[in-house]
Amino acid sequence: MKSAAAAQASDGIDIHVVQPDGREKLIRASIGQSLLEMAQTHGIDGIVAECGGSMSCATCHVYIHDDDLARLPPPERMEDEMLDGVASERRTGSRLACQITLTAGLEGLRLTIPQDQY
Ligand code: FES
Repeated sequence: MKSAAAAQASDGIDIHVVQPDGREKLIRASIGQSLLEMAQTHGIDGIVAECGGSMSCATCHVYIHDDDLARLPPPERMEDEMLDGVASERRTGSRLACQITLTAGLEGLRLTIPQDQY
């Protein structure tokens, strides 16, 4: 028999997506998909993802909220370099959505979409 936490995690996890104007949407996301796939599946505005997730465009930039950063592994060198070229200001929580895989440990993650991707 599954524990309540395991049963809940198998349903997916809640992700809070905040638009640059403050509008917020709660998404029930599938574990194992990338943050980019979640955004595409749920029609989130503001993530362009021109390269389709192959880490060559930096137009899937998101700001992970400060309180949640420690739950993510740090960016690999290549992602870190790509983040230097994002259109909106790079901040502490800047990440590429195509490089973040959703896990049960990310339940309740909050992110904000930057103003510009170009
Ligand atoms: S979708 Fe192009 S770098 Fe993430």
